Amino acid sequence: MSEKKKKIEKRRKDADLFKVVDSTIDPRTYLLLQDIARKLRIDYYLGAISSGKEAKVYPAKTYDGNFYAVKIYYVSTSASKKAIQKYTFGDKRFENIKASNTKKLISIWARKEFKNLSILYESGVNVPKPILVQEHILVMNFIGENGVRAPLLKELPDEEITKDMYEEILSQIDLMVNKAKLVHGDLSEYNIIVYDKIYIIDVSQSISIESENAPELLRRDIENINRFFESKGIEVNDTEEILKRFNIIT
Ligand SMILES: Nc1ncnc2c1ncn2[C@@H]1O[C@H](COP(=O)(O)OP(=O)(O)OP(=O)(O)O)[C@@H](O)[C@H]1O
Ligand SMILES: [Mg+2]
Repeated sequence: MSEKKKKIEKRRKDADLFKVVDSTIDPRTYLLLQDIARKLRIDYYLGAISSGKEAKVYPAKTYDGNFYAVKIYYVSTSASKKAIQKYTFGDKRFENIKASNTKKLISIWARKEFKNLSILYESGVNVPKPILVQEHILVMNFIGENGVRAPLLKELPDEEITKDMYEEILSQIDLMVNKAKLVHGDLSEYNIIVYDKIYIIDVSQSISIESENAPELLRRDIENINRFFESKGIEVNDTEEILKRFNIIT
Protein backbone atom coordinates (compact mmCIF):
# COMPACT_ATOMS: atom_id res chain seq x y z
CA MET A 1 0.00 0.00 0.00
CA SER A 2 1.31 3.48 -0.81
CA GLU A 3 2.03 5.91 2.04
CA LYS A 4 -0.84 8.12 0.90
CA LYS A 5 -3.27 5.23 0.80
CA LYS A 6 -2.14 4.09 4.24
CA LYS A 7 -2.79 7.57 5.59
CA ILE A 8 -6.27 7.67 4.15
CA GLU A 9 -6.95 4.19 5.46
CA LYS A 10 -5.75 5.22 8.93
CA ARG A 11 -7.88 8.35 8.94
CA ARG A 12 -10.94 6.33 8.02
CA LYS A 13 -10.21 3.89 10.86
CA ASP A 14 -9.85 6.70 13.39
CA ALA A 15 -13.09 8.30 12.32
CA ASP A 16 -14.79 4.95 12.75
CA LEU A 17 -13.43 4.37 16.22
CA PHE A 18 -16.66 5.53 17.78
CA LYS A 19 -19.82 3.87 16.52
CA VAL A 20 -21.82 6.41 18.44
CA VAL A 21 -20.56 9.97 18.47
CA ASP A 22 -19.74 11.05 21.97
CA SER A 23 -19.38 14.77 22.43
CA THR A 24 -18.09 14.45 25.99
CA ILE A 25 -14.78 12.91 24.89
CA ASP A 26 -12.15 15.64 24.87
CA PRO A 27 -9.27 15.58 22.34
CA ARG A 28 -6.68 14.27 24.80
CA THR A 29 -8.95 11.41 25.85
CA TYR A 30 -9.68 10.68 22.20
CA LEU A 31 -5.96 10.32 21.46
CA LEU A 32 -5.55 8.01 24.43
CA LEU A 33 -8.48 5.90 23.21
CA GLN A 34 -6.82 5.64 19.80
CA ASP A 35 -3.60 4.50 21.40
CA ILE A 36 -5.43 1.94 23.55
CA ALA A 37 -7.34 0.71 20.48
CA ARG A 38 -4.02 -0.02 18.76
CA LYS A 39 -2.60 -1.80 21.79
CA LEU A 40 -5.63 -3.97 22.45
CA ARG A 41 -6.73 -4.50 18.84
CA ILE A 42 -9.99 -2.65 19.42
CA ASP A 43 -12.08 -2.16 16.30
CA TYR A 44 -14.48 0.37 17.77
CA TYR A 45 -16.02 1.80 20.94
CA LEU A 46 -19.78 1.72 21.50
CA GLY A 47 -21.99 4.30 23.17
CA ALA A 48 -21.64 4.79 26.93
CA ILE A 49 -23.54 2.28 29.06
CA SER A 50 -23.44 4.49 32.11
CA SER A 51 -22.50 7.91 33.28
CA GLY A 52 -22.08 7.76 37.01
CA LYS A 53 -20.69 10.07 39.61
CA GLU A 54 -17.05 9.51 38.76
CA ALA A 55 -16.83 7.92 35.35
CA LYS A 56 -18.43 6.82 32.11
CA VAL A 57 -18.22 3.22 30.95
CA TYR A 58 -18.07 2.21 27.27
CA PRO A 59 -18.05 -1.23 25.68
CA ALA A 60 -15.26 -1.76 23.14
CA LYS A 61 -15.25 -4.47 20.51
CA THR A 62 -12.01 -6.11 19.41
CA TYR A 63 -11.27 -7.42 15.93
CA ASP A 64 -11.65 -10.91 17.39
CA GLY A 65 -15.19 -10.14 18.53
CA ASN A 66 -14.40 -9.86 22.26
CA PHE A 67 -15.65 -7.00 24.38
CA TYR A 68 -13.92 -4.83 26.95
CA ALA A 69 -15.41 -2.36 29.38
CA VAL A 70 -13.59 0.96 29.18
CA LYS A 71 -14.03 3.16 32.23
CA ILE A 72 -13.14 6.80 31.63
CA TYR A 73 -12.86 8.90 34.78
CA TYR A 74 -14.04 12.47 34.60
CA VAL A 75 -11.04 14.71 34.74
CA SER A 76 -12.61 16.47 37.65
CA THR A 77 -15.79 17.19 39.41
CA SER A 78 -15.81 18.63 42.89
CA ALA A 79 -17.67 15.51 44.02
CA SER A 80 -14.92 13.21 42.80
CA LYS A 81 -12.31 15.43 44.43
CA LYS A 82 -14.11 15.21 47.74
CA ALA A 83 -14.49 11.45 47.51
CA ILE A 84 -10.84 11.06 46.63
CA GLN A 85 -9.77 13.16 49.58
CA LYS A 86 -11.97 11.17 51.93
CA TYR A 87 -10.76 7.79 50.78
CA THR A 88 -7.09 8.62 50.30
CA PHE A 89 -6.60 10.14 53.72
CA GLY A 90 -3.95 8.06 55.44
CA ASP A 91 -3.11 6.09 52.29
CA LYS A 92 0.66 6.15 51.74
CA ARG A 93 0.34 6.10 47.95
CA PHE A 94 -1.34 9.50 47.99
CA GLU A 95 0.77 11.24 50.61
CA ASN A 96 2.83 13.41 48.29
CA ILE A 97 0.19 14.55 45.90
CA LYS A 98 -1.38 17.93 46.26
CA ALA A 99 -5.16 17.89 46.10
CA SER A 100 -5.00 20.78 43.65
CA ASN A 101 -3.37 18.67 40.95
CA THR A 102 -6.61 17.12 39.76
CA LYS A 103 -5.35 15.58 36.55
CA LYS A 104 -2.70 13.70 38.45
CA LEU A 105 -5.13 12.76 41.22
CA ILE A 106 -7.59 11.28 38.74
CA SER A 107 -4.95 9.12 37.07
CA ILE A 108 -3.76 7.90 40.44
CA TRP A 109 -7.39 7.19 41.29
CA ALA A 110 -7.73 5.14 38.06
CA ARG A 111 -4.49 3.34 38.89
CA LYS A 112 -5.80 2.65 42.35
CA GLU A 113 -8.91 0.99 40.95
CA PHE A 114 -6.69 -1.03 38.59
CA LYS A 115 -4.44 -2.12 41.47
CA ASN A 116 -7.41 -3.06 43.64
CA LEU A 117 -8.99 -4.99 40.76
CA SER A 118 -5.70 -6.84 40.24
CA ILE A 119 -5.37 -7.78 43.90
CA LEU A 120 -8.99 -8.94 44.01
CA TYR A 121 -8.70 -10.85 40.75
CA GLU A 122 -5.53 -12.64 41.91
CA SER A 123 -7.24 -13.48 45.20
CA GLY A 124 -10.02 -15.24 43.33
CA VAL A 125 -12.71 -12.65 43.99
CA ASN A 126 -15.24 -12.40 41.13
CA VAL A 127 -14.32 -9.07 39.58
CA PRO A 128 -13.90 -8.13 35.91
CA LYS A 129 -10.36 -9.06 34.83
CA PRO A 130 -8.23 -5.89 34.74
CA ILE A 131 -6.53 -5.39 31.37
CA LEU A 132 -4.85 -2.00 31.25
CA VAL A 133 -4.77 1.43 32.83
CA GLN A 134 -3.53 4.54 31.05
CA GLU A 135 -3.89 7.95 32.67
CA HIS A 136 -7.61 8.33 33.48
CA ILE A 137 -8.76 5.32 31.44
CA LEU A 138 -9.15 1.78 32.77
CA VAL A 139 -9.87 -1.26 30.62
CA MET A 140 -11.31 -4.49 32.03
CA ASN A 141 -13.19 -7.52 30.78
CA PHE A 142 -16.76 -6.85 29.81
CA ILE A 143 -19.45 -8.60 31.85
CA GLY A 144 -22.34 -9.21 29.49
CA GLU A 145 -23.03 -10.42 26.00
CA ASN A 146 -22.27 -8.81 22.67
CA GLY A 147 -21.68 -5.41 24.20
CA VAL A 148 -24.93 -5.55 26.18
CA ARG A 149 -24.07 -5.29 29.85
CA ALA A 150 -25.44 -7.82 32.33
CA PRO A 151 -27.90 -6.39 34.88
CA LEU A 152 -26.95 -4.93 38.23
CA LEU A 153 -28.31 -6.69 41.31
CA LYS A 154 -30.50 -3.60 41.68
CA GLU A 155 -32.09 -4.27 38.28
CA LEU A 156 -32.98 -7.95 38.76
CA PRO A 157 -36.65 -8.92 38.95
CA ASP A 158 -37.62 -9.90 42.50
CA GLU A 159 -38.15 -13.56 41.67
CA GLU A 160 -34.53 -13.90 40.58
CA ILE A 161 -33.15 -12.64 43.88
CA THR A 162 -32.33 -15.63 46.05
CA LYS A 163 -30.86 -16.58 49.38
CA ASP A 164 -28.07 -18.36 47.47
CA MET A 165 -27.14 -15.08 45.88
CA TYR A 166 -26.98 -13.51 49.33
CA GLU A 167 -24.69 -16.28 50.55
CA GLU A 168 -22.54 -15.92 47.44
CA ILE A 169 -22.09 -12.23 48.13
CA LEU A 170 -21.17 -12.93 51.74
CA SER A 171 -18.49 -15.39 50.66
CA GLN A 172 -17.14 -12.81 48.22
CA ILE A 173 -16.88 -10.35 51.10
CA ASP A 174 -15.09 -13.05 53.09
CA LEU A 175 -12.56 -13.54 50.25
CA MET A 176 -12.10 -9.79 49.83
CA VAL A 177 -11.35 -9.27 53.48
CA ASN A 178 -9.49 -12.43 54.42
CA LYS A 179 -7.59 -13.14 51.22
CA ALA A 180 -7.27 -9.84 49.37
CA LYS A 181 -7.18 -7.87 52.64
CA LEU A 182 -9.39 -5.17 51.19
CA VAL A 183 -12.69 -3.60 52.22
CA HIS A 184 -14.87 -2.61 49.26
CA GLY A 185 -16.12 0.61 50.79
CA ASP A 186 -19.07 1.23 48.47
CA LEU A 187 -20.73 -2.16 48.24
CA SER A 188 -24.42 -2.24 47.42
CA GLU A 189 -26.92 -3.54 44.86
CA TYR A 190 -25.57 -0.85 42.49
CA ASN A 191 -22.03 -2.25 42.42
CA ILE A 192 -22.80 -5.92 41.87
CA ILE A 193 -23.37 -7.34 38.39
CA VAL A 194 -25.31 -10.59 38.03
CA TYR A 195 -24.30 -12.74 35.09
CA ASP A 196 -23.08 -16.37 35.14
CA LYS A 197 -22.22 -15.55 38.75
CA ILE A 198 -22.12 -12.37 40.77
CA TYR A 199 -19.38 -9.83 40.01
CA ILE A 200 -18.19 -7.11 42.32
CA ILE A 201 -17.37 -3.83 40.53
CA ASP A 202 -16.39 -0.24 41.24
CA VAL A 203 -13.43 -0.76 43.57
CA SER A 204 -11.61 2.56 43.20
CA GLN A 205 -12.35 3.48 46.81
CA SER A 206 -11.53 0.06 48.27
CA ILE A 207 -9.03 0.25 51.10
CA SER A 208 -6.72 -1.99 53.07
CA ILE A 209 -8.26 -3.74 56.08
CA GLU A 210 -5.48 -2.11 58.09
CA SER A 211 -6.84 1.39 57.38
CA GLU A 212 -8.33 3.31 60.23
CA ASN A 213 -11.82 3.53 58.74
CA ALA A 214 -11.87 -0.04 57.35
CA PRO A 215 -14.07 -1.49 60.14
CA GLU A 216 -16.65 1.27 59.74
CA LEU A 217 -16.75 0.86 55.92
CA LEU A 218 -16.98 -2.92 56.15
CA ARG A 219 -19.91 -2.69 58.54
CA ARG A 220 -21.64 -0.29 56.19
CA ASP A 221 -21.02 -2.59 53.20
CA ILE A 222 -22.58 -5.54 55.03
CA GLU A 223 -25.48 -3.42 56.25
CA ASN A 224 -26.18 -2.28 52.67
CA ILE A 225 -26.30 -5.87 51.46
CA ASN A 226 -28.47 -6.93 54.39
CA ARG A 227 -30.87 -4.05 53.85
CA PHE A 228 -31.27 -4.90 50.16
CA PHE A 229 -31.94 -8.62 50.69
CA GLU A 230 -34.18 -7.95 53.66
CA SER A 231 -36.27 -5.61 51.50
CA LYS A 232 -36.73 -8.54 49.09
CA GLY A 233 -38.05 -10.74 51.88
CA ILE A 234 -34.92 -12.80 52.29
CA GLU A 235 -33.80 -13.75 55.76
CA VAL A 236 -30.43 -12.19 56.49
CA ASN A 237 -27.78 -12.72 59.14
CA ASP A 238 -27.01 -10.20 61.79
CA THR A 239 -24.12 -7.92 60.76
CA GLU A 240 -22.16 -8.64 63.95
CA GLU A 241 -22.61 -12.37 63.40
CA ILE A 242 -21.27 -12.08 59.88
CA LEU A 243 -18.23 -10.21 61.11
CA LYS A 244 -17.67 -12.90 63.73
CA ARG A 245 -18.30 -15.78 61.35
CA PHE A 246 -15.69 -14.51 58.92
CA ASN A 247 -13.32 -13.77 61.72
CA ILE A 248 -13.25 -10.24 60.48
CA ILE A 249 -11.93 -7.20 62.29
CA THR A 250 -14.49 -5.30 64.33
N1 LIG B 1 -16.73 -4.73 33.58
C1 LIG B 1 -17.95 -4.29 33.29
N2 LIG B 1 -18.75 -4.98 32.43
C2 LIG B 1 -20.00 -4.54 32.14
N3 LIG B 1 -20.55 -3.42 32.66
C3 LIG B 1 -19.81 -2.71 33.53
C4 LIG B 1 -18.48 -3.09 33.89
N4 LIG B 1 -18.01 -2.19 34.78
C5 LIG B 1 -18.98 -1.28 34.95
N5 LIG B 1 -20.07 -1.57 34.21
C6 LIG B 1 -21.33 -0.81 34.14
O1 LIG B 1 -21.03 0.57 34.27
C7 LIG B 1 -21.66 1.12 35.42
C8 LIG B 1 -20.74 2.11 36.12
O2 LIG B 1 -19.55 1.49 36.56
P1 LIG B 1 -18.94 1.81 37.99
O3 LIG B 1 -19.93 1.51 39.04
O4 LIG B 1 -17.63 1.14 38.04
O5 LIG B 1 -18.68 3.39 37.85
P2 LIG B 1 -19.28 4.64 38.69
O6 LIG B 1 -18.67 5.85 38.16
O7 LIG B 1 -19.24 4.38 40.12
O8 LIG B 1 -20.73 4.70 38.25
P3 LIG B 1 -21.99 4.89 39.21
O9 LIG B 1 -21.85 6.20 39.85
O10 LIG B 1 -23.12 4.78 38.22
O11 LIG B 1 -21.93 3.76 40.19
C9 LIG B 1 -22.03 -0.06 36.28
O12 LIG B 1 -23.18 0.21 37.01
C10 LIG B 1 -22.27 -1.17 35.27
O13 LIG B 1 -23.59 -1.12 34.78
MG1 LIG C 1 -20.81 2.31 40.71
